[in-house]
Amino acid sequence: MDKALIQAAKEARDRAYAPYSCFAVGAALETADGQIFVGTNVENASYGATICAERVAFGAALAAGKRTFARIAILGGRVGESHRACMPCGICRQVMREFCDDGFEILTAEGEEIFRTTLSALLPASFSAASMEETT
Ligand code: THU
Repeated sequence: MDKALIQAAKEARDRAYAPYSCFAVGAALETADGQIFVGTNVENASYGATICAERVAFGAALAAGKRTFARIAILGGRVGESHRACMPCGICRQVMREFCDDGFEILTAEGEEIFRTTLSALLPASFSAASMEETT
């Protein structure tokens, strides 16, 4: 259910560790068997060590043994303010590519409005493990 996934992302977002950018991101990843794993961005004084919310959610699910995923909800916005729509960064799209097929759904929301797209729309003509098997 969209609402439950977005609610999980919202609650995760409230726990973001983002003292440098003050931009809080929450992600809720749904596995093929319907479980939800959440992540927040985790920033670092050495800025490059920051991890995005999406990759934290994938890491949690993978560490729990999950390997197949249905969709992810992502919410952004300034710390202390209500959520805004937020699309995944390029690195997170590539991480999704590792584990998800073209139809993997990406949801975001602003207020009550929900926006949805797919991994193939956000990362067309992508590089993946399959690319190394192709001969052309
Ligand atoms: N951020 C995410 O967590 N996910 C994204 O897809 C975009 C960016 C975080 C990283 C950093 O902590 C903050 O948002 C500002 O870039």
